[in-house]
Amino acid sequence: MIQPGLAPGDIDALIAIVHATGFFRAEEIRIARELMDQHLAQGALGSGYHFERAYDQQGELAGFACHGPIPGTDGSFDLYWIAVHPRAQGLGLGHLLVEAVVAETSRSGGRLLYAETSSQPLYDPTRAFYLRCGFREAARLPDFYRPDDDKIVYVRNLCRGIPPTRVGRER
Ligand SMILES: CC(C)(COP(=O)(O)OP(=O)(O)OC[C@H]1O[C@@H](n2cnc3c(N)ncnc32)[C@H](O)[C@@H]1OP(=O)(O)O)[C@@H](O)C(=O)NCCC(=O)NCCS
Repeated sequence: MIQPGLAPGDIDALIAIVHATGFFRAEEIRIARELMDQHLAQGALGSGYHFERAYDQQGELAGFACHGPIPGTDGSFDLYWIAVHPRAQGLGLGHLLVEAVVAETSRSGGRLLYAETSSQPLYDPTRAFYLRCGFREAARLPDFYRPDDDKIVYVRNLCRGIPPTRVGRER
């Protein structure tokens, strides 16, 4: 269900998934494509962008995650992107993607995995998802994106042997 990496033929399908979620603006979608292009041109290590792909039960590409080390840090990683096609949401693929990212990040010496999202009501499900996947809220930057639209930074500690749900509830 989950496969690491990215092939040139995946890009259109992955961009279509990003579009289909209805969560991302044109500028963000352009950045997603740039990350994919950089991965294909320079590889995961060269670009710093690692991809995991999720397939549904019919074998169709249904989601992806992109993560990488945060330059200048010792063991801090960013979950840059995660998206699952609406037809496949709620089936556990997002959780599997996070666990694949955590496994890969931990193998690379990761200590902390960060994710960020908006405080807007559209992102209520996204925030619930991060908490269910073992992240906790680490910081909130008021009006970061625009007035009344805060940036919320989530972190998952990869060093503790605590079940994800408990870490998610820790403050
Ligand atoms: C966020 C997203 C990746 C989750 O993927 P998914 O495959 O639907 O998630 P899963 O089915 O693996 O759910 C994992 C957990 O999160 C919870 N969750 C998922 N969607 C939820 C929702 N809408 N409301 C509340 N909880 C939710 C699930 O209940 C599940 O917890 P459980 O195992 O205790 O039942 C997907 O909904 C998506 O692509 N959303 C739009 C894009 C987005 O917000 N990306 C994040 C970047 S800002």
